[in-house]
Amino acid sequence: MGRKKNRLPRFPFDYINTKADEYNNSRWMERNQKRATLLSIQYLFDKNFNSSKANGIQSGVSSLVMDLGCGTGFSSEILVENGFNVIGVDILPDMLLKAKEKKKNLKISRFLSLVLADINFLPIREKIIDNIISISAYNFIVHGKKNKNERAKLLNDTAKCLNKILKKKGRIIIEFYPEDDQELTLFNNSFTKNGFEGFMVRRNPKQKSGQTFLLLKKRV
Ligand SMILES: C[S@@+](CC[C@H](N)C(=O)[O-])C[C@H]1O[C@@H](n2cnc3c(N)ncnc32)[C@H](O)[C@@H]1O
Repeated sequence: MGRKKNRLPRFPFDYINTKADEYNNSRWMERNQKRATLLSIQYLFDKNFNSSKANGIQSGVSSLVMDLGCGTGFSSEILVENGFNVIGVDILPDMLLKAKEKKKNLKISRFLSLVLADINFLPIREKIIDNIISISAYNFIVHGKKNKNERAKLLNDTAKCLNKILKKKGRIIIEFYPEDDQELTLFNNSFTKNGFEGFMVRRNPKQKSGQTFLLLKKRV
């Protein structure tokens, strides 16, 4: 989804200046982002989530969803069209400006707010978000952190913050491309250590950095 042919995109180079236009004008990218978002909405209501006592989440209609790394807004657009109230967050102005333009053409634009912010430092009050979705962005949050301990700390801090801003029965669906199994374990641990449980779906398990979905809910 986030990958072009056989290489993973480079952050931030593939999302700034003319690359932001290229990204936004790519039909292939639009199709893939929207497809992954629709699948994530299905995962949000996955019946396996309901196997424990912590069943039941707010229905899609008017529940408040954060789209982490919303880019130029392909995912946010699908979320709004499916009845969610959406806060799209992105760190790059070049991408977010395109999402703002897209918002103008949305019939129900009042259901989309766009915020320039870092996923790792979210300016959001505690316990106000129903669910979180992130499509092809979460693998970038460790950008610039070469050292494993630094990465683990950042991932832990972010998972802790996501736990705080989510309501009690909040869920997170992340579609991303971890570099390898070691990195995937780091991401998974950050959630299990910080109050989440859930499932992982690897679309192509043999692929080294293949498309991966994390389906998470707050532990009760
Ligand atoms: C593949 S793109 C956007 C995908 C998006 N789902 C869409 O529909 O366009 C990934 C985005 O993640 C954003 N991103 C990467 N690291 C981020 C961070 N730490 N905080 C916020 N956004 C981030 C990038 O700026 C980029 O716009």
